[in-house]
Amino acid sequence: MSSSREILHGQWSSRWAFMLAATGSAVGLGNIWKFPYITGVNGGGAFVLVYLICIGLIGVPIMMAEILLGRRGRRSPINTMRYLAQEEGRHGGWRFLGWMGIVAGLLILSFYSVIAGWALAYLMRAGAGLFSGMDSEAVGAVFQQLVSDPERLLAWHTLFILLTAIVVARGVRSGLEQAVRYLMPLLLVCLLVLVGYAMNSGAFQQGLAFLFKPDFTRLSASTVLVAMGHAFFTLSLGMGAIMVYGSYLPRHVSIAKASLGIALADTVVALLAGMAIFPLVFANNLAPGAGPGLIFQTLPLAFGQMPGGTFFGALFFLLLIFAAWTSAISLVEPLVAYLVENLRMTRVRAAALACALAWLLGLGSVFSFNIWSGEPYQLWGKTFFELLDYLATNIMLPLGGLLIVIFAGWLMRRESVLGELEMNDGPGFRLWYSVSRYITPVAVLLIFLHAIGVLEPLLK
Ligand code: PHE
Repeated sequence: MSSSREILHGQWSSRWAFMLAATGSAVGLGNIWKFPYITGVNGGGAFVLVYLICIGLIGVPIMMAEILLGRRGRRSPINTMRYLAQEEGRHGGWRFLGWMGIVAGLLILSFYSVIAGWALAYLMRAGAGLFSGMDSEAVGAVFQQLVSDPERLLAWHTLFILLTAIVVARGVRSGLEQAVRYLMPLLLVCLLVLVGYAMNSGAFQQGLAFLFKPDFTRLSASTVLVAMGHAFFTLSLGMGAIMVYGSYLPRHVSIAKASLGIALADTVVALLAGMAIFPLVFANNLAPGAGPGLIFQTLPLAFGQMPGGTFFGALFFLLLIFAAWTSAISLVEPLVAYLVENLRMTRVRAAALACALAWLLGLGSVFSFNIWSGEPYQLWGKTFFELLDYLATNIMLPLGGLLIVIFAGWLMRRESVLGELEMNDGPGFRLWYSVSRYITPVAVLLIFLHAIGVLEPLLK
């Protein structure tokens, strides 16, 4: 029945188009901005180890489940879940999963765009050669000056949301494919050059040790939750982005191979970013736990000192903006697909509405770095930006992923799952199926329970 479902939004032109779009969604600010910054805040190696385990045991199995649900449903996540629940004789309430994803996507886009705005601002600064010869104090001052000015942040945030709206309005496929095909490899080259620079910074060993030598005393229930949340964030899982991209996926594409490839590419980019940044942090006596400004306070030092740094710095920020762009698009695509399907809106209107909502919510994050940064504007010790990030990344995405893997592992008939994955009932399938049924959901649940302190009495 599902294979004959009419295709509404079109399909990717090939397996590669899907791979590029999904990799474009996964690789973004999460890898280059967020991974180094939260690794720094959470103490390095042990956090990275937990994150890598989460990618393998939770991320990859859930990515396969999410793509398979999408391809079978062929609709926006809300309607996909509604159809699949019907087909499998389950409760219609499963469409709630789609709704939660849409909300999570909007929350994330609202602050994602503010940070992408920083990258836009830095493109101008790097291109103008502002950083040449600057020391770490001067570079820090440039960052402070930017974030303390709400008007400037607002302007860049607005520009980035507009860029996102334009591509989403035109349809995800045109343009995106080309951008990812050529710019992603270039971004990888840029990161390799930066790692090369870091090797000669004098603190490469120290940077690597921070990143890869686990110090388990730095690990707590809350850092484990953050590591898991980031595994979801960086792979774009749990909110329907990968599901909706999967819904445009033609048949006869191996979901297992695609998932492994995407997760591998995403992880390599994140680790390279860490290897470029932490040596610079230690070589310049900066604090690894500096927070969201970390890459903006370290990379310009490299651009200011290396030969050709003006050109190279501008190129780097340009590519970072492209990477953020291809991720931002996927954050609103589930909502846009839903508005087109159910409210019969044109793509242009749907994109305008979705991006306007994210823009408005983004004001809160803009102000989090200046006029609302103080204590009276915080809740549970977190600014508005931190609160949104925490709620969406550490709670909504893992919850969404948990429900996805429970649906695919326990509530769908085994034949449906097997058929959609187009695998034979061999060791590969069995491995995924048992991990998805037993290990992944239990791991997510345990991390949740641990974080709210339920397990504490048992561990004593
Ligand atoms: N994966 C993206 C990144 O790492 C962010 C993202 C999260 C995109 C969730 C879509 C859905 O930058």
